[in-house]
Amino acid sequence: MSNVDYDAVALHPVPPRMINGTEVPFIGPNLEAYQKAHAESVGENADKWWAKMARETLHWDRPFQTVRTGSFENGDIAWFPEGYVNACYNCVDRWAFQDPNKTAIIYEADEPGQHKNISYGELLREVSRLANVLKSHGIGKGDTVTVYMPMTWQAVAAFLACARIGALHSVVFAGFSSESLADRINDCKSRVVLTADEGRRGGKIINIKALADKALEKCPNVEAVIVLQHTGNPVGWVEGRDKWWHEESAKVPNYCPPALLNSEDGLFILYTSGSTGKPKGIMHTIGGYLLGAAMTIKYVFEVHPDDKFGCMADLGWITGHTYLVYGPLANGVATLVFESTPVYPTPARFWETIDTHKLTHFYTAPTAVRLLRRLGEQHVAKADLSSLRIIASVGEPINPEAWHWLNDHVGRKQAAIVDTFFQTETGSIVLSPIPGAIETKPGSATVPFLGMTYALLDPTTGKELEGPGVEGVLVFKNTWPSIARSVWKDHNRWLDVYMRPYPGYFFTGDGAVRDKDGYIWIKGRVDDVINVSGHRLSTAEIESALILYPGVAEAAVIGANDELTGQAVHAFVTLKAEFNYDPTNESGLIKELVLQVRKVIGPFATPKKIYIVSDLPKTRSGKIMRRIMRKVIAGEGDQLGDLSTLAEPGVVSVIKDKVAAMS
Ligand code: PRX
Repeated sequence: MSNVDYDAVALHPVPPRMINGTEVPFIGPNLEAYQKAHAESVGENADKWWAKMARETLHWDRPFQTVRTGSFENGDIAWFPEGYVNACYNCVDRWAFQDPNKTAIIYEADEPGQHKNISYGELLREVSRLANVLKSHGIGKGDTVTVYMPMTWQAVAAFLACARIGALHSVVFAGFSSESLADRINDCKSRVVLTADEGRRGGKIINIKALADKALEKCPNVEAVIVLQHTGNPVGWVEGRDKWWHEESAKVPNYCPPALLNSEDGLFILYTSGSTGKPKGIMHTIGGYLLGAAMTIKYVFEVHPDDKFGCMADLGWITGHTYLVYGPLANGVATLVFESTPVYPTPARFWETIDTHKLTHFYTAPTAVRLLRRLGEQHVAKADLSSLRIIASVGEPINPEAWHWLNDHVGRKQAAIVDTFFQTETGSIVLSPIPGAIETKPGSATVPFLGMTYALLDPTTGKELEGPGVEGVLVFKNTWPSIARSVWKDHNRWLDVYMRPYPGYFFTGDGAVRDKDGYIWIKGRVDDVINVSGHRLSTAEIESALILYPGVAEAAVIGANDELTGQAVHAFVTLKAEFNYDPTNESGLIKELVLQVRKVIGPFATPKKIYIVSDLPKTRSGKIMRRIMRKVIAGEGDQLGDLSTLAEPGVVSVIKDKVAAMS
């Protein structure tokens, strides 16, 4: 992305399906319409505007009087503090009461042709039963429940059952290893874990229960494990602790009243990577989060009641939380749970799924687009795809080639391409084109969402950079409803990471450019977070995993650009002098180190390359100079800049030689 001449990129007009569709866009038809709506949402009457939105969008069990209070600096942000609101009621009951037969979930199983629609009525019964099961195990308001499940419709029910009774779910991506799962269960001290016998993905079986069992050996607090029977294959069983989901459900009533919950009560915890090794339990609260999820679905995705929303993200990430579960269901539309992969059994799987269910929205990550683009147009050419109005991308900057491929071959120049930017911490989309109003530029997340005010700051002085043609760190200026409220049991860390770097602002950790038209281009993280296929990883986390290997003395991990995955993990490792190592079998050791990372974090963190070196470049004070390794891998070894602080200049050629030998 760094070589893009931002000012030279042409604007793409609002596409035909947004203008000629049967519905008038909520915000449109042009930039002025967006500017008017945005001005209203951030001006002096902003709180009145938010109050109207909150009342229109959600059902409140008790009304709020105050719209917002608190500040970034004081760490006391609260929205709608007197209000009482139940997320599950808003996502399920109100639609089930209106029309119990309306489809809530379209479950597309791993094997093509095996799909099932779940109605709002059926979802309410499943959620109620599970909520009653949780209650029967002593779970109630403020408790945490860890969810480690494959992509099944019952996993969605798991989110909502917790929300119904005021328990916070902590959903752990099923690609995480047992060790990562154990850390997350222990950090939030869950007493109950929801899991499944096995998962299926791309024709393979994933032994979820076995992985959970291994994790649970290290989790003394867990009293009960509720196991969904998904594949039906035999699995290990701990008598007394493990219970079948269906057997427990058969004991309890099919209706459970929703709990009366304050808008600022916790809704969920979601662990994410930061600059340090230990993942942070980002905590969201009910009212503000749900409003952000519901409103972005409506305005960014222009969702109407009969739409069918296809978010391909995993439930274990924020995109799955907000745009697979809470956002679509809070709008009463059908949402897709996709169990498979983009290439199973063929690279036409996404397109066949869109056609089978007549999806109106398709939301994915650039890495999947790059993969499918590489595999050829023939797979998409056969599909109809005329049901699609909005195609959206998230998780990493979308390169113009991928953007155009979506526009030409998937949208066929009829649908809107929407590049959405957000984070686990922001809860819902904060920068994005509004499809009926904003002309797009491939690769730009364009403009702030309603209610959002942003700035680009000079990273050193912290001063706001004014006008077009500037690059700085991206911050937000005013609080918004769906901003997370804390790091679980570590409020000081929350303040340190996000609020203190630039007092008075929320610090995103991303760098960005504002071009001549005022459009925003995300350049990527300015901290030690890397983004592999849209999965967020911290370099420190991978380094800690490598250092746990007995022979490793030091490790330095960097993210390098990668054509397919956006960034890829490259690790430099030095060995302990006493480590008994056969240098003729370096590949054997590298394999073990790769396994080590997979074991400690999970397969998605697999390093692309591991370089065993005799030394790492360090400053005289001993700080590893990752910049040098980054440059060498990028092929810019002749532009290393100032090396005066480097303790051992000879180490540069060690790095260069190794990288050259392994490329
Ligand atoms: O670097 C940004 C990148 O993903 C980070 C947030 O990761 P996570 O909390 O896991 O949430 C991912 C899904 C929202 C951001 O700090 N990112 C997200 N969306 C975009 C993006 N980078 C560029 N363009 C985007 N549209």
